[in-house]
Amino acid sequence: MSKTVAMEDIVSLTKRRGFIYQGSELYGGLSGTWDYGPLGIQLKRNISNAWWKFFVEDRDDTYGIDAAILMNQKVWQASGHVDGFSDPLVEDMVNKKRHRADHLLEDAGVENVAAMSTEQMNQAFKDNNIKSPDGNELSEIRQFNMMFQTNVGAIQDETSVSYLRPETAQGMFVNFKNIVDSFSPNIPFATAQIGKAFRNEISPRDFIFRVREFEQMEIEVFAHPDNWREVFDEWLELQKQFYLSIGLPEEKLHFIDVPAEDRAHYSKHSIDSEFDYIIGQKELGGCAYRTDHDLSAHMKHSGKNLEYRPKDGSPAFVPHVIEPTFGLDRLVLAVIDSSYVEDEVNGEKRVYLKLPKHLAPVKVAVSPLLKNKPELVEKAREVYAQLKKDIGSVMWDDNGNIGKRYRRQDEIGTPYCVVIDFDSLEDNSVTVRHRDTTEQERVAISDLVGKIS
Ligand code: GLY
Repeated sequence: MSKTVAMEDIVSLTKRRGFIYQGSELYGGLSGTWDYGPLGIQLKRNISNAWWKFFVEDRDDTYGIDAAILMNQKVWQASGHVDGFSDPLVEDMVNKKRHRADHLLEDAGVENVAAMSTEQMNQAFKDNNIKSPDGNELSEIRQFNMMFQTNVGAIQDETSVSYLRPETAQGMFVNFKNIVDSFSPNIPFATAQIGKAFRNEISPRDFIFRVREFEQMEIEVFAHPDNWREVFDEWLELQKQFYLSIGLPEEKLHFIDVPAEDRAHYSKHSIDSEFDYIIGQKELGGCAYRTDHDLSAHMKHSGKNLEYRPKDGSPAFVPHVIEPTFGLDRLVLAVIDSSYVEDEVNGEKRVYLKLPKHLAPVKVAVSPLLKNKPELVEKAREVYAQLKKDIGSVMWDDNGNIGKRYRRQDEIGTPYCVVIDFDSLEDNSVTVRHRDTTEQERVAISDLVGKIS
């Protein structure tokens, strides 16, 4: 790479090329929200489809679920989110802007913030004389619940309160009994879900890394309590294998044993997966041992029996849960981040996304060499129609000269550009240009699909 790539380079490319736009941009934006454009949603879908295939379609012990985002408020009371799902907040005493206390401490170079109690954090603010980013005095810390609250139905009172789900997991716990009743699975078995989750982050930042509306891909594995460690290790390994299968470089992945004081309220053991993003080493996903926290809580609050009864007649038990969880937007960012390359071609700077081929939003771009030659356009249209039928994600591109087209396709990570020229009319072959090497080769039209897929 010719220079250090910054987050701004990625934000700029993804906007320019139709991957990701600021949410509600027309009205000045809505903090913590982002909209995926045509190429971004295709990339995101390619990642989530790869995940669904890896964890659901290719296995016979995993059951897919798509639960409602809005759930009965009792779900969140039982799960502990109403009481315990909060972040520490401080307020600028002059302009009333609110900030995440732990982030301000970390930005000021204070160490081990994650392990601090609220009292210790308050003390650290005083000891280090930390002011707000605008230089003003700060309030004491208070805990801020991150769930978005709403009311369901026409009446707005306590009984109609609901929340936009802060994790997809609960939709699977409340369906545990349905899956057992419908499918009689042997334990251990898993449920999997992909869907939106919402958190009212105090300070969204770092592009699509810390946002208020995001997509999770979560798995809940139900196991016998005696067996949790073995199941945990097996699924943590699967999580690693999935990261590698979407091309994340092994040396950029880190698996961190989360200390007790830094774990989520439901977890007894957690291994976070972190990734070396351009913005530093940050969380990508995690694997948590949730014990029987959720099923026992739902059993207590709902009054329904959620025990599992083994088919061999051994005693019934409340399963323990191992949860591999993935932030889909964070995976999108990691994939773009690790694919972003700047190099030089014929003395000119070039930017390209070295996306794994199965994730590239466009697999092939098809162009007539000259767009004002009807015979070339006609032939190119034929090739385009055939490839579109066989491969699907194929783009017609006749905009600008051929150099500009290559440049544009490089920036969106298209692995192959197919160009139809005058020789094609004679010999039924085309030029295939390769993204990573920029090399070109001649390929018979009849061999194109085999060559490319
Ligand atoms: N279900 C785990 C999480 O949302 O972090």
